[in-house]
Amino acid sequence: MTVPDSFQRRYLAKFNKSRISHRFTDILVVGSGIAGLSAALEIVSKTSLEVLVIAKSALHEGSTHYAQGGVAAVLEPDRHRDHVDFHVEDTIDAACGLADENVVQLVATEGVSAVEELLSLGAQFDRQDGEIHFTREGGHSKARILHSADSTGREIERTLLDAAQNENQITTLENTYAIDLVTDSVGACRGVLAHRPQGFLQMLWAKKVILATGGAGRLYRETTNPQVTTGDGIAMSFRAGATIQNMEFVQFHPTTLYVAGADRFLITEAARGEGGQLIDNDGVAFMKDYHPEAELAPRDVVSRAILDRMKKTESNRVYLDLTQLDPDLIVRRFPRILEICLGFGIDIRRQAIPVRPSAHYTIGGVKVDAHGATDVPHLYAVGEVSSTGLHGANRLGSNSLLEGLVFGRRAGRQASELALDMPENSLPFVPSEMEQPSRSTQQIPIDLRDLERSLQSLLWHRVGIERNGAELEIAKNQIEAWLSYVLPLQFNTPEAWTLQNMLTTSYLILTGALTRKESRGVHFRNDFPNPSEDWNIQQSIKRATNTNLEIKPN
Ligand code: FAD
Ligand code: SIN
Repeated sequence: MTVPDSFQRRYLAKFNKSRISHRFTDILVVGSGIAGLSAALEIVSKTSLEVLVIAKSALHEGSTHYAQGGVAAVLEPDRHRDHVDFHVEDTIDAACGLADENVVQLVATEGVSAVEELLSLGAQFDRQDGEIHFTREGGHSKARILHSADSTGREIERTLLDAAQNENQITTLENTYAIDLVTDSVGACRGVLAHRPQGFLQMLWAKKVILATGGAGRLYRETTNPQVTTGDGIAMSFRAGATIQNMEFVQFHPTTLYVAGADRFLITEAARGEGGQLIDNDGVAFMKDYHPEAELAPRDVVSRAILDRMKKTESNRVYLDLTQLDPDLIVRRFPRILEICLGFGIDIRRQAIPVRPSAHYTIGGVKVDAHGATDVPHLYAVGEVSSTGLHGANRLGSNSLLEGLVFGRRAGRQASELALDMPENSLPFVPSEMEQPSRSTQQIPIDLRDLERSLQSLLWHRVGIERNGAELEIAKNQIEAWLSYVLPLQFNTPEAWTLQNMLTTSYLILTGALTRKESRGVHFRNDFPNPSEDWNIQQSIKRATNTNLEIKPN
């Protein structure tokens, strides 16, 4: 496939070489969520290397902080008649034929010690009579999810950030925006060009770079994701020549609060795990009509069932009814949801919650091996920005925090072992394409916010829960048009670079969705409503040459 001309651009920012400052570290971690911090802590636990962790906003701000349901791991197999093998089976079943079974096995197995490590760092998970309380979510055959009420991510992020900030070898920089990965003449990653809070650009040079920038949920109008998840890491890896895979698989969460003026606040799947029931506008419970597991069917099934029900009842929402649960349980298990809903005048102990699906998790991403290494030398990717093969075509709830922990540690371990043998950073080179006057050479007035909203709306309506070829083509043409005038522009703010990244990442999702002519897992096309044997493959996209987009099965 031929790439849009605008994709020929390698670096988004140009600058005056004599004015730029340089900073050196051993290992640079881009992102301070569960994956990035796990990597950083692993590095300093084994070596005396210096680690620099950067985040584009406040350090805690990312999907990790907002995670609700919990983290899945078979910590007490006997008490719950569970086994790591059952966790493996459930994950593979959910993945609809596309899981990498070795990766599933290693995440489920190593996940146990990774979560134990989290406990030893001081993470507080809910207990009952002194024992850890495990809950269930859709697709899990056993109760194996550790949680901190309905704010698990906040507790994990607090624990990891505290631990990282207590380490002398780790330096953290917030409000530091990674614009591009800098690669040398043989294509190896040497560092990152970053925008610092005071508005100046800085080269951050490192022996190894670990990308942990999270997903791209913010590409969609309706999303559970925080502001920072705009696909920057995927877009910058693509520009740097990394293979990107499985981008068509975007997971939608069935239940987000749907009240005018409310952010699309997630209502955790654990609420259904504890007995919450979905009812339609007429008060009818409907999930049994769609799947034998009813409320605990896989998320894609529940999301599509809700869409169908909304159509049939001519309503723009359904309801999640928790009123049959013990009110004390609600107070104890879902205090944050109770508080947020009360703020909108809904007492969830007495009233059903208006909900509808939203974009939630980016299954695809930068292709990595079992150590988180990408195909760009010295570059690793961990957490939601990466595609490890764990989730296949559909992610099991509470498996992504686990993946971030396990792959963060794995990448940290391998990157640090290899960095120990590397020479000290020498005086940096600067790729010639970046050495330009910093002043804009071409500018047209662009309302960034307007274009961002248009893009989010386009993806929601045409590249959403239910897709078809005609709609996808329309979306592709539209994004190509936007790319043609936005990508060549020379900007100097994170907001503008973010929009360029959002357009690039959207195009990769669209290319994947158009090419995969079948329905599988979270990718549902009503023009090809069934899975196809021919598509029993991972699909990767690479910026092969300046004019070609190489799309191939892996
Ligand atoms: P994040 O935690 O998203 O962190 C991304 C980091 O990258 C941030 O520090 C950000 O500042 C930085 N960054 C991004 N771009 C740049 C840039 N250009 N320059 C510099 N820094 C950058 N999963 C579960 O397993 N269990 C759950 O219960 C659960 N609940 C969820 C609830 C919600 C509301 C959401 C949104 C997700 C939930 N998930 C859950 C998914 C899970 O939270 C995420 O997949 C996971 O936290 C991602 O972690 P991460 O470290 O990869 O990225
Ligand atoms: C939830 O709490 O429902 C989200 C869990 C997840 O996405 O893993």
